[in-house]
Amino acid sequence: MSTFDVVTQRLLEDAGITEGMRVLDIGCGMGIVTRRIAQLVGSTGTVVGIDSDAASLDLARAQTTESGLQNIRYVQADLQIYQPDRDSFDAIVGRRVLMYVRNPFAVLQRLCSGLRTGGICAFQEQTQSLISDRLGQWPLHDQLMTWIWETVRKEGADPKLGVMLPRLLTRLGFVVTVSAAATVVGLEQGQHPLHSIVEWMIPRMRKQQVITEGQIDVRTLPQQLQAERDQNPGIYASDLTISVLARQVSAA
Ligand SMILES: C[S@@+](CC[C@H](N)C(=O)[O-])C[C@H]1O[C@@H](n2cnc3c(N)ncnc32)[C@H](O)[C@@H]1O
Repeated sequence: MSTFDVVTQRLLEDAGITEGMRVLDIGCGMGIVTRRIAQLVGSTGTVVGIDSDAASLDLARAQTTESGLQNIRYVQADLQIYQPDRDSFDAIVGRRVLMYVRNPFAVLQRLCSGLRTGGICAFQEQTQSLISDRLGQWPLHDQLMTWIWETVRKEGADPKLGVMLPRLLTRLGFVVTVSAAATVVGLEQGQHPLHSIVEWMIPRMRKQQVITEGQIDVRTLPQQLQAERDQNPGIYASDLTISVLARQVSAA
C-alpha cells in the first residue's frame, strides 16, 4: 500500500465509516477510494462516486465489476454544480479533489446540504511544502516535484488547499476533530510513488509546457532516483498530504 493509501485507510477508520452507511466519494477518479469505502459499508451500505471525467469513470466501473462489489453507483457530474438531495449521505469523502475546484467553500457548502445532521466529512488533500530543513542534496527529486506542482497549478489547482481546508470547514459550521499532515517518504524503489506519478503525468506536463519532449528519460528514471536516494544520508520528504475530519453539528 502506498503512503497515500495508508493515510486514506487511517482517515476512513477515524471517520467511523462502517456497515450500512451512505457515503458520497467526490472526485472518485478510478474508484480506488470508492471501492475501499464500499468494503467498509458492506452490502447494507451504499457509495456514490462522482467525477466529471468519463474515461476515469469507465475504468472505475470496469474495476468495480471485476471486484464483485455491488453497492457502488458512479455518476458523471461536475462538482461546481452538483447538488445532492437533502440528508442523503452519512459521510462525504474526497481525496485530492477539492484543490481542483475553483471555489471550494461554495462547493463544500452545496455538497454538505446533502449531509445528515451529525454527518462526517473526511478529506485528504495535498499541499505543496518542500521541506527545507532536511539532510542531503536532492536535485532530481526536487526538480520532479517542482514540475508536478507547476503542472497542477497551471491546470488551475490550488497548491495550498490542504492547509486551508480545516478553516473552510470550520467556517461552514463543522467541528474539525482530526487534522493531520503526513509526508511521503521512501528508502527503496517501489516504496516511493514519485517515478510512477511522473510517468503518468508526462503528457499533462507537456500539455502545460512545463517540460519539453525528451526532457525526462522515463526508462532510466527509477535508477536515477534510486542513485540519488542511495547517496543521501536521510530520507526524502516532499509535499504534505493533509487529512481533515469534520462533523456537522447542525444542518447546512
Ligand atoms: C487526483 S484525482 C483523485 C482521484 C481519487 N479521488 C483518488 O484519490 O484516487 C482528482 C479527480 O478529481 C476529478 N475532478 C476534478 N475537478 C472536478 C470537478 N469539478 N468535478 C468532478 N470531478 C472533478 C478529476 O476528474 C480526477 O478524477
